[in-house]
Amino acid sequence: MKFEKGWRLGSMGDMHILPGSRHRPPIKKPMWVIVLVLLVCIFLICTYMYPPQSSSACYIFSSRGCKPFADWLPPVPVREYTDGEIASRVVIKDILSSPPVLSGKSKIAFMFLSPGTLPLERLWDSFFQGHEGKFSVYVHASKHKPFHVSRYFVNRDIRSDQVIWGKISMVDAERRILANALQDPDNQHFVLLSDSCVPLYHFDYIYTYLMHTNLSYVDCFKDPGPHGNGRYSEHMLPEVEVKDFRKGAQWFSMKRQHAVIVMADYLYYSKFRAYCQPGFEGRNCIADEHYLPTFFQIVDPGGIANWSLTHVDWSERKWHPKSYRVEDITYQLLKNITSVDVSLHVTSDEKKEVQSWPCLWNGMQKPCYLFARKFTPETLDTLLLIFSNYSAP
Ligand SMILES: *[C@@H]1O[C@H](CO)[C@@H](O)[C@H](O)[C@H]1NC(C)=O
Ligand SMILES: *[C@@H]1O[C@H](CO)[C@@H](O)[C@H](O)[C@H]1NC(C)=O
Ligand SMILES: *[C@@H]1O[C@H](CO)[C@@H](O)[C@H](O)[C@H]1NC(C)=O
Ligand SMILES: *[C@@H]1O[C@H](CO)[C@@H](O)[C@H](O)[C@H]1NC(C)=O
Repeated sequence: MKFEKGWRLGSMGDMHILPGSRHRPPIKKPMWVIVLVLLVCIFLICTYMYPPQSSSACYIFSSRGCKPFADWLPPVPVREYTDGEIASRVVIKDILSSPPVLSGKSKIAFMFLSPGTLPLERLWDSFFQGHEGKFSVYVHASKHKPFHVSRYFVNRDIRSDQVIWGKISMVDAERRILANALQDPDNQHFVLLSDSCVPLYHFDYIYTYLMHTNLSYVDCFKDPGPHGNGRYSEHMLPEVEVKDFRKGAQWFSMKRQHAVIVMADYLYYSKFRAYCQPGFEGRNCIADEHYLPTFFQIVDPGGIANWSLTHVDWSERKWHPKSYRVEDITYQLLKNITSVDVSLHVTSDEKKEVQSWPCLWNGMQKPCYLFARKFTPETLDTLLLIFSNYSAP
């Protein structure tokens, strides 16, 4: 580069002018050496920052031939992992590198988190009908023993515990229901749902969508704003650095290997249990919105799709998302939700930056959502009436 050479000549020129300044006392020999060494140092630093591009320039500095100067320096040191991290990483790597075991009876585990009775159970009953053997149902009822109306739900309650919104007990419930569902070796995908969720497609479409992908659908994005990184605590160091801190809705769909690594994790989980809770150091950290997105960002970022398969409408920009009522339920509303094929996230800082990417399924752009929330109990009859109509892809 011409510019580089010109600049270098200029600095050589300075070198000759310096000692020649007449009005100064003559510089003694040792001083000379120091100045020379200093200049050489500056010169080398500059060469490092602006590596020489032409081969003739390379010759001046190196007998080893033309190699960017940066290559000779040791790489930027990576942080030394703790014992816990080394152990955690080796276990996770081993689980992820073993091929998935697909039996002929692959099933999807539908895992419902609910306070008690599931108001939309009859809709799910018609969704499951005729697909016996391809799914299993689990219900974690945290307040009251549910009353079931569908044979697919009877005797599917697992032992549960109290769940407090925003607290680690929500993550504990997720892990508890996952552990129960993992006991059935035929379960290959694990979908977390709430009592206000509905299916958007008929069973076969959802089964194919989930079974023919190697991704888990864990919502995950970087939010530099107060509701994202503003909830991060440096107590989580060294394992959880702010650059890896992520946010996402809790409603995941996970392949079996990912469910197993979530079971295997204690290291990251314990950081979130201790330092991500509402009110901790004045921050409002919601463990279920950060633990899994951050965990996957650290251990297998390429293994998750980064969006949730469960649609929710935040457009009213309130503390809670929009709840659909009877008068909202139309064929058009459901078709609108299923027509979305671009995933959107908005940061919570003043910039309100919109992050969007196409929902790719095996490289093809597909609908982002297979499920939707929040539907009030009164919407059941209308949904039952139009389900077979709207659920056709
Ligand atoms: C998923 O991974 C398995 C094994 O690595 C591979 O055989 C299969 O083709 C992959 N499926 C898709 C849909 O990429
Ligand atoms: C999800 O986001 C991470 C970066 O946060 C990226 O590395 C990964 O490739 C993304 N996943 C997919 C399937 O694009
Ligand atoms: C569906 O989407 C269209 C276009 O975005 C919008 O004009 C219409 O109001 C939506 N209808 C419902 C019922 O949400
Ligand atoms: C569903 O109902 C709408 C009108 O409400 C109709 O236009 C559409 O053709 C129906 N679709 C199916 C698949 O039956």
